[in-house]
Amino acid sequence: MANTGRSFFDNRFVDEVRSSTDIVELIGESVALRRRGRNHLGLCPFHNEKTASFTVSAEKQIFYCFGCGAGGDVFSYVQKKQGLTFPESVRLLAERAGLRPPEQDLSPAEAARAAELARLRELHEMACVQYERWLWGDPGKPALEYLRRRGLSDQTIKDFRLGWALPGWDGLVQGLGQRGVQGAALVRAGLAGEAEGGKRVYDRFRGRVMFPICDGRGQVIAFGGRVLPGNEDPQSPKYLNSPETDLFVKGRQLYGLHLARPAIRERGGAVIVEGYMDALACHQAGFKHAVASLGTALTVVQGRMLLTMARDISVAYDADAAGQAATLRGLEVLAMVGAEIRVVNLPEGKDPDECIQRGGASAFADALDQAEDYLLYRFRLARAAAEAKYGRGTARAAAATAAAVAPGLVLVASAVARESYVQRFARELGVSEASVLAEVRRAARPAAQAGGGGAPASDAGHIAAPNRDNKGNIGSGLLAGPAYRQAEEQLIAALLMHPELVNEVAGGIEPADFPDEACRHVVEMLLAAAPARADGAAAGADRAAVDPAQQDLAHGLIRALEQQGQLEAASLIGRLAVTDEVGKEHCVRVVQDCVRFLQEHSLGNRIIEVRQEVQRLERAGEPVPSHLLEEYTRLVRSVKGRPPEA
Ligand code: UTP
Ligand code: MN
Repeated sequence: MANTGRSFFDNRFVDEVRSSTDIVELIGESVALRRRGRNHLGLCPFHNEKTASFTVSAEKQIFYCFGCGAGGDVFSYVQKKQGLTFPESVRLLAERAGLRPPEQDLSPAEAARAAELARLRELHEMACVQYERWLWGDPGKPALEYLRRRGLSDQTIKDFRLGWALPGWDGLVQGLGQRGVQGAALVRAGLAGEAEGGKRVYDRFRGRVMFPICDGRGQVIAFGGRVLPGNEDPQSPKYLNSPETDLFVKGRQLYGLHLARPAIRERGGAVIVEGYMDALACHQAGFKHAVASLGTALTVVQGRMLLTMARDISVAYDADAAGQAATLRGLEVLAMVGAEIRVVNLPEGKDPDECIQRGGASAFADALDQAEDYLLYRFRLARAAAEAKYGRGTARAAAATAAAVAPGLVLVASAVARESYVQRFARELGVSEASVLAEVRRAARPAAQAGGGGAPASDAGHIAAPNRDNKGNIGSGLLAGPAYRQAEEQLIAALLMHPELVNEVAGGIEPADFPDEACRHVVEMLLAAAPARADGAAAGADRAAVDPAQQDLAHGLIRALEQQGQLEAASLIGRLAVTDEVGKEHCVRVVQDCVRFLQEHSLGNRIIEVRQEVQRLERAGEPVPSHLLEEYTRLVRSVKGRPPEA
């Protein structure tokens, strides 16, 4: 049994895939998660629930549902979610992370696809380096000048790895060709096109300032290229983007996210802007929590990506009419995933870049401070549109306005907040609250009945209902159940936090002292892993970096237990791992108390056994062997006079 465990502890590739996958991002793609203290919380995808009890720990990289008991790591998640085997889940996540599994584990088709994805990434990195070199060299002088003229510092240009694509037909094809890259590979990567049935290959990006688009980990997966002013061509767009490839799927990326992530987490908020230049200008001005949606409508996936990191999302799109329409669509998506949304009002015709150019960082900071609440914005726009159509202060305008804001009101999580909106809108429209509420109720009905008034039909199947009831009492009821079960679990939790405490257990009790089967299995594994861990601890001079070891332990256990079919034990690890961290001193006491308790519990059970055996013999009129009586006396004495409960 321990052997199976070992092979999982030692599997470097599995570890690599795990550490390249962020569980909050992974789960956030299919579950609306909100930050709650140290954890993220959402509606469980594995059972039907109205109150969020599905917990994801970014720190521990583990999930656990307090409602249905499902729990585990990234692999457990995709296995459960998609009905995959463990090897399949490793393959899937490896591919997602752009890692190439050891060849022997792959079918030929899978190996080919993994190799292709890795190759596409490699080509994008090579191209990015080449474009950067051209920008900073002689050919890029006009482009660099243009960027500097637009106020970008050299540091910002380098941070975002901007580049320059030569104006000729085949600069990149030639440049990378010299390094052994085939034209056909560049075509597959979307970096080149082909003519004359593939006989001639030419650069896709020519004479453009290049903006690399990176995935969440900062690997280049696509490009956008801007023409220099004066070189515009009515035949081609101002910004040319990479086509979609296996690597780059539009609507799944946010420009600048890899640079913005720390700031977003720190502030608990993000700013969404439209364009490349807006994102750059924001970052340079210190708004490092800005990401760009790149001119396309915001998608649910993008919304969820942000929501896994922050709840407060400000949208700073262009103020023109097209910008307003885009803003509204984006807001709807964000409202559906349950964000706290605010709309940044920029002076007419300006985007964040221009706002910062003209008014400095303080102008944009002011705009952020004064950002308008989403529903009030929506109300203002709806009312203006209705009054333009039906006339100011008319009954029809009021009716149209109420109907337009009602779907937004349905999504408001807090009943108190909803009521306060209803009061306000009713007052402003000069109607009763009851009639506004009637509109809300109508909008709340399923889309089919409400005549399409509800959430957009596309994607609706994947959208979890917003969280209406968040008590968030995750910690409570955690250790419910019989006292021994509490002791077993507390003990294991303490060992997961401070693995070296296993030595406190080793002498005192054995797995057999653990009445619960799942706990018994976990303790067996912990004891089996103990010697190896002790060596490791001795080798590493200090144990300041206990965290990774701790994570490895929990993950190793989950893998090994799942492999043995001990699903309950595996999800127990998940549950204990998402609970709050406790200091070592306290854990030492917990371990000692629990060990004593379980010893006594075992003794108690043995006392009951012996007593029953004695009683049985007496009833049957048979002689009671003296060793039984001696054992009974010894047992009772060793629990220090506390009589066991029958
Ligand atoms: P904008 O036209 O608002 O451009 O498009 P911008 O970002 O302000 O760019 P500058 O300031 O003129 O340099 C917003 C975003 O829409 C996408 C780009 O991502 C752009 O940043 N877009 C725009 C395209 O993809 N293609 C286009 O032709 C235009
Ligand atoms: Mn602009």
